[in-house]
Amino acid sequence: MQYKQLSRTGLSVSRLCLGTGTFGHQTDEAEAVRILDAAVDAGVNFIDTADMYPGGALPHEVGSSEEITGRWLKGKRGRFILGTKAGGPMGPSQWDRGASRKHLLDAIDASLKRLDTDYVDLYQIHMDDPSTPLDETAEALDLIVRSGKVRYIGVSNFLAYRLARAIGRQDTLRLARFVSVQPRYNLLFREIERDLLPLAQEENLAVIPYNPLAGGLLTNRYKLDDNPDQGRFSTTEMGQFGAMYKARYWKEREFETIRQLRAIGQEIGEPLPKLAIAWIMANPAITSVILGASRTEQLTDTLAAADFLISAELKAKLDELTSVYRQGDAGR
Ligand SMILES: NC(=O)c1ccc[n+]([C@@H]2O[C@H](COP(=O)([O-])OP(=O)(O)OC[C@H]3O[C@@H](n4cnc5c(N)ncnc54)[C@H](OP(=O)(O)O)[C@@H]3O)[C@@H](O)[C@H]2O)c1
Repeated sequence: MQYKQLSRTGLSVSRLCLGTGTFGHQTDEAEAVRILDAAVDAGVNFIDTADMYPGGALPHEVGSSEEITGRWLKGKRGRFILGTKAGGPMGPSQWDRGASRKHLLDAIDASLKRLDTDYVDLYQIHMDDPSTPLDETAEALDLIVRSGKVRYIGVSNFLAYRLARAIGRQDTLRLARFVSVQPRYNLLFREIERDLLPLAQEENLAVIPYNPLAGGLLTNRYKLDDNPDQGRFSTTEMGQFGAMYKARYWKEREFETIRQLRAIGQEIGEPLPKLAIAWIMANPAITSVILGASRTEQLTDTLAAADFLISAELKAKLDELTSVYRQGDAGR
């Protein structure tokens, strides 16, 4: 495993982070424990969760990813950098979501309770909340950092211009500053290369991308005419979340790109998931890639990317083949 400094903090994190987005819906606690143990055995010291996880949660499952992660961390909390997020819907009221002072002060206490810990290392705004003034969010986060409940703060799914404005306000008001951004990024979605990655490099923000396998599409798993009844692209198991993933990626062009990517992998004798993750890690703007898994064996190929350095020539070939996915400017 390689490790890299998290922005301008004094922290060094593993270049692969373990995501817990399946825990509590697709993945039961026993399997989640095996996944966490396997990641740690490979050198992972960085864990990502969120208050609203797992993805595709039924109402009674919301929060169970934090609870499972918290139980696993018992007795070894100090050995890990723990990130969580707030902003997604956690109740029926308008103020049970978003980035208002009221919600964030409630949300951090609820996360600490579920995680059964006194502090979170990296507290991230899960998605932009345009209805709350940036100054209100920045002041609330500063208060939370000063209270000792959180060590560092970051964002996820922000457009570059909004993040630039937010850090500008934090600097002007002398408040705790965002140290990281968690965007969607993979060989089939490269929009962040246009604005967000240059901003992150200029402002020395850590970049912790999620969705590195496009929800599992960047494997040998699916064909265009499949209609999966299980897993990320299933509406049966995942509801609206599955429908969202299908709408994002399940397209003829994407399947053709995957066919060509697989052929490149076969030429060099490397599985596509490993190649897809190594390609992200090869980008100097990237700090740590968040892996996702619903079963432990899925980690075999993805954790193997930790020590797989792709050549400049191979990177250029993959860049070229997927250049069409740099278009657009969506935040997530
Ligand atoms: N900030 C955000 O908005 C946001 C959004 C999404 C995720 N995240 C975080 O990022 C983490 C990773 O994101 P992601 O889950 O979308 O990553 P991903 O790597 O794009 O997708 C992971 C999924 O791909 C499939 N998969 C993984 N390895 C495989 C293998 N070797 N063979 C076949 N299938 C494989 C599994 O799908 P099945 O589940 O179908 O088996 C797995 O759940 C999440 O756990 C979460 O912590 C953050």
